[in-house]
Amino acid sequence: MLEIELANIKMKNPFMLASGILDLTKESMEKFKDAGAVVTKSIGKEERKGYKNPVFHEVECGILNAIGLANPGVEEYIKEIRGIKIENLIGSIFGKDEKEFYYVAEKMMPFVKAFELNLSCPHAKKVGMEYSTRKIKKTVEEVKQLGKPVFVKLGMENLLKRAEKAIEGGADAIVAINSVKAMAIAIDVAMPILGNKVGGYSGKAIKPIGVRCVYELAKNFDLPIIGVGGITYGRDAIEYMMAGATAVQIGTAIYYRGEKIFRLIEKETKEWLKENGYKHISEIVGLALKN
Ligand SMILES: Cc1cc2nc3c(=O)[nH]c(=O)nc-3n(C[C@H](O)[C@H](O)[C@H](O)COP(=O)(O)O)c2cc1C
Repeated sequence: MLEIELANIKMKNPFMLASGILDLTKESMEKFKDAGAVVTKSIGKEERKGYKNPVFHEVECGILNAIGLANPGVEEYIKEIRGIKIENLIGSIFGKDEKEFYYVAEKMMPFVKAFELNLSCPHAKKVGMEYSTRKIKKTVEEVKQLGKPVFVKLGMENLLKRAEKAIEGGADAIVAINSVKAMAIAIDVAMPILGNKVGGYSGKAIKPIGVRCVYELAKNFDLPIIGVGGITYGRDAIEYMMAGATAVQIGTAIYYRGEKIFRLIEKETKEWLKENGYKHISEIVGLALKN
């Protein structure tokens, strides 16, 4: 009822662990065996320490984070994912140019089924959302040479133009959205709360933004879309799929519902499909685009 195929990758369900949430170590990733796929933390060429504390702050309807793409660098990280018992591991990568993306992708290649290029981190300088739109096509082309599917993760900013460039480069899917650039201020001391001042807002509050982005992508382009942002219950996943997503990713909600969230969302989705007379999840993909 829930199995799908995405860029020739068979998944037992369309629910994926989003990049950056409990995916730095083999042990933490292996806790998500119920997910259809697991996306790694975004990994770069060299080790990156990230920003100073606090890097995390809970706000209404979600969280703010400014981790700063902290990661051990690809050489160390591949020691971590070697032999990992996850059926579909997707390698998330960031870099400053196409050469860096290629370098990291080549090292990760033996361990992953596909790559996810992070072109949308809202708080990293010169990479992520600041990665030039002009460089996107070439970057995707470069990583595609390795012969594995390439997903491109974008944010809400300049979305359609950036997606167009990714597709011209041969992207197999677009992932949308990343966390949304945001900040919070401690009024008693008149100071930004996060160490980096500005961070990314994720969780329930951003779901309508993500749904709108997926809907616009599905309206304009003919390739699989992976929806992400605020998915907490089966109903949220269904909403994204009706907007045109073939699969979805789940991040922040793990803080609220725990590691068992994939099992819960699977159960909730199946129940809803049955109650509403659908036999397979594929029947609801893009339904809202027709109405
Ligand atoms: C603590 C934290 C770290 C994150 N790190 C990454 C990352 O390394 N790479 C990336 O592409 N997205 C990263 N994200 C963004 C998520 O993958 C996701 O796109 C975003 O949080 C929206 O989904 P959610 O509301 O389900 O969390 C991070 C999010 C959080 C909360």
